[in-house]
Amino acid sequence: MLQSTSLPAAGRARLPSRRTATVMAASGKTVMITGGNTGIGYETAKVLLAKGYSVTLACRDASRASNAVQRLQQQQPGAPVDYLLLDLADLASVRDAANKWMDSGKQIDVLLNNAGVMACPRMETAQGYEYQLGVNHLGHFLWANTLLPLLKQNPNPVRIVNVASTAHMFGKMDFDDLQSRNNYDRWRAYGQSKLANILFTYELARKLQPSSSITANCLHPGVVRTELSRYLMTDPDALTSKLLTALFTPFTLSPEQGALTNIYCCSSPDVEGISGKYYDSCKPVASTPASYDTATAAKLWSVSEELTQAYAKAPAAV
Ligand SMILES: NC(=O)c1ccc[n+]([C@@H]2O[C@H](COP(=O)([O-])OP(=O)(O)OC[C@H]3O[C@@H](n4cnc5c(N)ncnc54)[C@H](OP(=O)(O)O)[C@@H]3O)[C@@H](O)[C@H]2O)c1
Repeated sequence: MLQSTSLPAAGRARLPSRRTATVMAASGKTVMITGGNTGIGYETAKVLLAKGYSVTLACRDASRASNAVQRLQQQQPGAPVDYLLLDLADLASVRDAANKWMDSGKQIDVLLNNAGVMACPRMETAQGYEYQLGVNHLGHFLWANTLLPLLKQNPNPVRIVNVASTAHMFGKMDFDDLQSRNNYDRWRAYGQSKLANILFTYELARKLQPSSSITANCLHPGVVRTELSRYLMTDPDALTSKLLTALFTPFTLSPEQGALTNIYCCSSPDVEGISGKYYDSCKPVASTPASYDTATAAKLWSVSEELTQAYAKAPAAV
């Protein structure tokens, strides 16, 4: 049975057609959404709940997460939604959250790796990695890889969806200074982390296909009015970026509109069995030539394995 989402007014932004926003009624399917307490992730949770999915929000802040769960349950009484604590800036938290989920005996049908940070001043994760690379890529790399044995046991098709960005265009994998220690530039670091999201997706799709029923795709959600620019708003050194953000605000998407490509990649029958693609406005499109470089993708994979290895196994039982 097919159902359609009701699309919000298009405004001036480019939006997918009503046909492409069609989603499959999926009672009983479970979606895990990192960073689902606000922004695009929250709006995705709202629509997927309405379509019959069970939703778990994987979030770093218990009070923001439980507040989001409450709001979703107020809008949809009895909705099957809960949260799991996950801080992508700490690989120990990533490993523990994944293990906790696997111990629960519950499956995942859609793993939506949506959480992200953008253009922060230079900061480091708990393991001393540059914050944007650490949260946007390394945390999700360990998260997805730790959950993979569980996903492989799922008798039904599984979708892994990574939220990247068109900002991968100005990204370059700088393996000589992956942690951006020299001449840190907040936008270059964001671009690098979002390019890493795409390289990771394509490499994962190559490793999984053709024998697996797990697909991996990534997407750009559009330019969306969310809390993503929080670091720019509070940083006195980011005046130019702040002015540009204010200037472009009228041309941006609402969070409801920005969630449409997430919803499409997570649930549309059009995407069933499709893997290794990059979506924008609910259509597969080309990402930059650099993102298709298989040698770079393989190198990123092995470097990411090295950087996360210490947390890749469960701690010894005490
Ligand atoms: N908005 C845009 O224009 C745009 C454009 C292109 C791509 N994207 C991508 O879309 C995704 C969603 O962004 P958004 O616009 O919805 O931004 P948002 O409103 O700021 O939401 C980001 C989410 O990520 C969570 N998060 C941040 N750091 C985390 C950590 N260490 N551990 C766990 N969760 C963490 C946040 O949690 P807290 O609420 O606790 O901070 C929040 O739930 C991101 O990957 C972003 O790069 C957005």
